[in-house]
Amino acid sequence: MQNNYEEQISKIIADLTIEEKANMLHGIGLFTSGDVKEKGIPGLETSDGPMGVRNQFPMDSWFPINLSDDFVSYMPSNSAVSATWNPDCAYAGGKTLGEEARGRGKDVILAPGINIKRDPLCGRNFEYMSEDPYLVEEMVVPMIKGIQEADVAACVKHFALNNQETNRLWVDTYVDERTLREIYLPGFKAAVQKAGTYSLMNAYNKFEGVHCSANKRLLNEILREEWGYDGTVISDWGSVHSTKETAEASMDLEMSVTVNFDEYFFAKPLVEAVKKGEVKMEDVDAKVRNILRMMYRLKMLGPEAANRKAGSYNTPEHQQAIRKAARESLVLLKNEDNLLPITKERVAMEAGERAPKKKRIAVIGRNAEHQHAGGGGSAEIKALYEISPLMGIKTYLGGNAEVLYAPGYFIPGKKEDVNAVNWQETSLERQISRRDFMGETEEQQKQREEVMKARKELLEEAVELAKSADEVIFVGGLNHDYDVEGWDRDNMKLPYAQDELIEALLEANPNTIVTFVAGSPVEMPWRDKAKAILWCYYAGMETGHAFTEVLFGKVNPSGKLPESFPAEYTDTITYKNGEFGKEDSVTYKEGIFYGYRYYEKEDIKPAFAFGHGLSYTTFAFDDLQVEVLPQAGVVNEEADLEKAAVKVSVKVTNTGSVAGAEVVQCYVSDTECSVQRPVKELKAFGKVFLEPGETKDVEMLVNNRGLAFYDVETKAFVVEAGEFAFHVGNSSDMIMESTKIFLTK
Ligand code: GLC
Repeated sequence: MQNNYEEQISKIIADLTIEEKANMLHGIGLFTSGDVKEKGIPGLETSDGPMGVRNQFPMDSWFPINLSDDFVSYMPSNSAVSATWNPDCAYAGGKTLGEEARGRGKDVILAPGINIKRDPLCGRNFEYMSEDPYLVEEMVVPMIKGIQEADVAACVKHFALNNQETNRLWVDTYVDERTLREIYLPGFKAAVQKAGTYSLMNAYNKFEGVHCSANKRLLNEILREEWGYDGTVISDWGSVHSTKETAEASMDLEMSVTVNFDEYFFAKPLVEAVKKGEVKMEDVDAKVRNILRMMYRLKMLGPEAANRKAGSYNTPEHQQAIRKAARESLVLLKNEDNLLPITKERVAMEAGERAPKKKRIAVIGRNAEHQHAGGGGSAEIKALYEISPLMGIKTYLGGNAEVLYAPGYFIPGKKEDVNAVNWQETSLERQISRRDFMGETEEQQKQREEVMKARKELLEEAVELAKSADEVIFVGGLNHDYDVEGWDRDNMKLPYAQDELIEALLEANPNTIVTFVAGSPVEMPWRDKAKAILWCYYAGMETGHAFTEVLFGKVNPSGKLPESFPAEYTDTITYKNGEFGKEDSVTYKEGIFYGYRYYEKEDIKPAFAFGHGLSYTTFAFDDLQVEVLPQAGVVNEEADLEKAAVKVSVKVTNTGSVAGAEVVQCYVSDTECSVQRPVKELKAFGKVFLEPGETKDVEMLVNNRGLAFYDVETKAFVVEAGEFAFHVGNSSDMIMESTKIFLTK
């Protein structure tokens, strides 16, 4: 079939005029590419995003159509999926997203977003997977496969180095070659070479002085020539800034947020440039070929078209898959005195003189009832439903307990700009920069005073409730005013004076259970005073049910942090080197030493470590075995890097009284090396589900790339002979067993 594609494609291209070719290379609608009806070539229907299929817009307006036919499944964010450390959840998520996209008549879903979480303040961290490139690889590959099984193209984004939102359209990024290869490219390379992504989105920012949309080093040299990518490159919306320069780079389809479609760089200007001889027809043909190849793969063209899957949306199966991932995504950060789970006895009615006495369950904090689906930027979702934590608790407890809600803190209303229907319409004009309000206007001062007054009243109300309740559950965190595309947070503190409220609640009731719904880390200065802390990323429409099932012990939490939670933002290397959130250019001076790679190098203790997550049961690790395989260290060509080098196995026993799942993590230290390497790096993991008393052998394979570092001299990953240490545990800061090997090759 593959050959027919190319032969067929050549015939089609030979029959197209330059006007028809150009029409295929740019949007003729905000989310639709140009077609050539007379020659039976359809346009591509694209849609956001990583958390579901976005609501329908007209071709030429950001006013949503607002019918009742585009409610969809609201899925867990990529952070939540990664927190499961379960590739099956990533696959199921991709499958759901692909089927929903097909069901909504889409050809390309603009997901997943996989940029590395380099700094906790990046506004889009919630959409991304991890700070660790290996975890990204292990989750992005099954997700893309799941999407594309539905005959929909994944569009992995944003290629590359889009690790901040501040001035994202213009910021110029610089990173050393080793860091680029070891940290920022592997997720994309795996998406191309292991998942076979049909499309990829270039980032807005510049890389080494050239916009990613026209960056030949990224698109031609690395993506096409080195990685052999033959899919489609779709521009981020409005990220193209030239006709000739971009045409010469291997970017295929220009999309944007404006409706002057004929004036797009790849529209009339491209036709004129070709006619003047400024742009080669072969460059245009190469783009048309990439798009047609993707159409064949999607069964939009050719004999297979009759068999293209129809997809479906809002199915019970999708909702169940979402609930499963949400359950596995919750991370139990702390649980002293086994305060959690809240047992049935603690919420059961007590016999009274006549009527039984109901327990009073206080649920305090705006995130108990706040709905998140409709925010975040292009990841916004018109959710069929969204179960809040409060809804989950009430439906779980029913009428035999008294659930009392108090907002606890005040969220100032945002002054809506009634004219800007959708933020994205003006997203190219606004020079987005960090929010540094230059002093307060009189009106702002008045509003601040009102806010302070409201806060005081709400805090007092919440504390009074906490004093009179049998159980106190605080649900705070962030929302899409802070976890949002286009902005970075100014700090890592909880907004709305939540810290003051949490301290007051803990004072009123030391058994207050502190829970969060958020998309990126926050500082928790009171964490030593709280006995129980439960963390929930934006986990989709079933969040409230999953949250409740974990809180009351129906589900045993098994999530692990896919990113470090620093104690304070000032502990981060990107705060210290000042190379985050700058408007003009950013140089990743920290190299590979950020996140846990930095904290372990400098012996800085995070609040909660990468890979951390507790369970309601306990696990024992025994009998670590490490076997060096014949291929270990034998790297004659790039393919040898993927060959298994070391087999690691460990016995895991559930030593507690309830069933549960443990994520066995394998970190590798290259203790003898000619270059400086991190203390250790995640290179394998496995999630194992165990009944009480059950033991299973968890086997993991570390390939040669897992031992290698990128050598800038030879421009290749190399494995140096010498000593390596293997550490196995259930968190980067909880290593149970270690052992060493000595590679002679
Ligand atoms: C946005 C985002 C991108 C999204 C696209 C379409 O600005 O950067 O992730 O898919 O434009 O909405």
